[in-house]
Amino acid sequence: MKTYKIAVIAGDGTGPEVVAEGVKVLKAAASTFKFGLDFTYFDYGGDRYLKTGKIISDEEVQELKNFDAIYLGAIGHPDVKPGILETGLLLKIRFDLDQYINLRPVKLYPGVDCPLKDKKPEDIDFVVIRENTGGIYTGHGGVTRKGTPDEIATQVMVYDRRTVDRCLKFAFELKKRRNEERETSRPKPLHLVHKRNVLMNCGDLWFRAFEEMGVKEYPDISREYMHVDATTMWFVKNPEWFDVVVTENLFGDIITDLGAMIQGGMGIAAGGNINPQGVSMFEPIGGSAPKYTGKKMINPLAAIEAGRMMIDFLGEHKAASAIEQAVAQACTKLKSLSAGKMGYNTEEVGDMVASAV
Ligand code: IPM
Ligand code: MN
Repeated sequence: MKTYKIAVIAGDGTGPEVVAEGVKVLKAAASTFKFGLDFTYFDYGGDRYLKTGKIISDEEVQELKNFDAIYLGAIGHPDVKPGILETGLLLKIRFDLDQYINLRPVKLYPGVDCPLKDKKPEDIDFVVIRENTGGIYTGHGGVTRKGTPDEIATQVMVYDRRTVDRCLKFAFELKKRRNEERETSRPKPLHLVHKRNVLMNCGDLWFRAFEEMGVKEYPDISREYMHVDATTMWFVKNPEWFDVVVTENLFGDIITDLGAMIQGGMGIAAGGNINPQGVSMFEPIGGSAPKYTGKKMINPLAAIEAGRMMIDFLGEHKAASAIEQAVAQACTKLKSLSAGKMGYNTEEVGDMVASAV
């Protein structure tokens, strides 16, 4: 029997509550589908930082390389200044472990309330690939004359060809697999999203790399370029146009929050920070929702979905699709996906999914 070593960082606020339900469901899947899961818990997050002044050290991040995957709850503490935990913990892990893909599925399950009029599950089923190590997130830039009327601040969008190419490669490969799986005569294009009408350096780098890789290596995959502002329009107006979308880091951050809303909100949206050659980390994309901490009101489906993505990525495809079916079934039973309005508490939703698995 194969056993996977999972590092769990439950994190702050409601993170531990939703992670507990995710672990419950993963254990059910492991026993049904005959594989092992060995969970090791780490207390990184706001509470530890407030107590010890430590976030996560270089050595502690390196230690995470001994695991098959990382399962993350949520990062963000009301008593910690914004930015400290985000950059010191979440982004540090993403960067240090070179998790260069942020994979965010946008899928509307039947029975889920969609804020878009007349859109059905068959209209909303795509994946956003957000580049996860470069761009404005690298922290290039600085401040001078701080606190004076002449203060200057810069944050630079940084990309090199290698970083762009490896992300595009992942996107083309995923698109190829999805085209093969679906076997439609007219597959949807692979979309590249940027802002090349204004960001003429980085936008042009992405666009040329996209065109070159498409022409040379994937001539059968149709390509379409879209500006990021227009993309937000089309996600709302015509989500059925999209199948795989690839974009740079900040644009991906923004459009995936929109994506989360059209699939039913933060109660269901999950993502994976992936290093195809290394250790990947899976997380619900909503925050730590501190006001709900301990109230059992928060929806664990997003964390459960993150767990599903994790075992799918580890190769347990049957178990992953059983979880997906169980989540889809739960979606038809919950009154709403929003915290406090589900008609069930956090644990009951976890039990429902676990027993279906
Ligand atoms: C996300 C979050 C993070 C990001 C923050 C918390 C640093 O918004 O995962 O989308 O910007 O990537
Ligand atoms: Mn975000």
